[in-house]
Amino acid sequence: MADKKARLTIDGVDEVIELSVYSGTLGPDVIDVRPLTGRGLFTYDPGFVSTAACESSITYIDGDQGILLHRGYPIEQLAKHSDYLETCYLLLNGELPTAEQKEQFVNTIKNHTMVHQQMTHFFNGFRRDAHPMAIMVAVVGALSAFYHDSLDIDDPHHREVCAYRLIAKMPTIAAMCYKYSIGQPFQYPQNDLNYADNFLHMMFGTPCATYVPNPILSKAMDRIFLLHADHEQNASTSTVRLAGSSGANPFACIASGVAALWGPAHGGANEAVLQMLEEIGDEANIPEFIQRAKDPDDDFRLMGFGHRVYRNFDPRAKVMKQACDEVLAELGIENDPLLKIAKRLEQIALEDEYFVQRKLYPNVDFYSGIILKAIGIPTNMFTVIFALSRTIGWISHWSEFHSSPNKIGRPRQLYTGQKQRDYPE
Ligand code: ACO
Repeated sequence: MADKKARLTIDGVDEVIELSVYSGTLGPDVIDVRPLTGRGLFTYDPGFVSTAACESSITYIDGDQGILLHRGYPIEQLAKHSDYLETCYLLLNGELPTAEQKEQFVNTIKNHTMVHQQMTHFFNGFRRDAHPMAIMVAVVGALSAFYHDSLDIDDPHHREVCAYRLIAKMPTIAAMCYKYSIGQPFQYPQNDLNYADNFLHMMFGTPCATYVPNPILSKAMDRIFLLHADHEQNASTSTVRLAGSSGANPFACIASGVAALWGPAHGGANEAVLQMLEEIGDEANIPEFIQRAKDPDDDFRLMGFGHRVYRNFDPRAKVMKQACDEVLAELGIENDPLLKIAKRLEQIALEDEYFVQRKLYPNVDFYSGIILKAIGIPTNMFTVIFALSRTIGWISHWSEFHSSPNKIGRPRQLYTGQKQRDYPE
């Protein structure tokens, strides 16, 4: 794979350092900087903006063109023809399932939807007003205390069972977080429902009122899961890979992904979008907020706009926008004041010189927040839903990492602290 060479010269060093250049099947070439370590040099790349941290064959993104492929399939085609569980199978196994394989996979997931009854006691230790992401981090990590029989990371079958458990149990745990916060009894999973409807049933059903599935909302929920399924080496996935590189157990690694996702610069953005829309409060206040977003001396940013990789319309946002329109029409709430602010904001940002020049387009979180609000999901559950959707990406990357020879992740640094000095006697 090293068909080209890069040559590096350094002031004061006679030797020209020759570095291999690798080409993937798509995307930019990468320079193999590993020989630098032996010469006492490291590369410096805070924020990993220019670093390929691993080799992967799961997901490809072209941020300039606005392309996202899972195992080669464009996200728009998956959103149109596939569904979340089929996409999970694809991400995990590399190929789309046959009809028989899909049925078997769906049934296997259904077999794992319940959580150990002992886990329900775990929730009682939390305050009712705890943020559901705080509970998620803890409960997902705690899975390792309940499912010992799938913890041998070197056994491909154990890795597979662990993936099934996570895909199946995340919606159950997510809905339990919500039910706990509002003081309602947990709803057991209902395996005759599809994945999205089962989640909505566990969220909104009660012992006295059965949740009645609505095909439009079910499809929108499934699309939200599918569109968040994976996004190559983002902050949370890189965290899962790094945690996994130490040989930590898979449930603990996924808990580290949930924690990394929580921040507003990553998965927390969908919650932050709604908070921002509420803060704006009225269309008349939009110019003031746009001005603040443009002011270099003000920390305020328009939540749901911009992306580290996409310098074009996020392809997921296009599909999400369509789903958003469908849900709002179905629920007859196109005139909701917050949604009006969102639409106006989108229009202004797409035309304003500041946003156009910096290629700050609405991202997937901008529209997913609006859909989730319309479905009736409380704002503090938005990132939880992102976490449950992204679990398949995390576990697929974790599994890929362990399927080939690997090393513990150990970045180095540019040290700018004190030189060695003596302790004052
Ligand atoms: N509002 C206003 N200005 C912005 C925004 C924004 N949302 N995003 C970037 N900018 C500006 C920056 O101030 C900077 O301007 P400058 O060149 O004049 O200094 C320029 O655009 C480049 O921004 P960076 O911070 O260098 O971009 P980076 O790639 O580091 O950040 C990020 C990407 C974190 C997503 C950023 O755009 C942001 O904070 N967006 C809002 C939060 C958000 O929606 N996050 C969700 C990401 S998608 C996901 O996780 C699924």
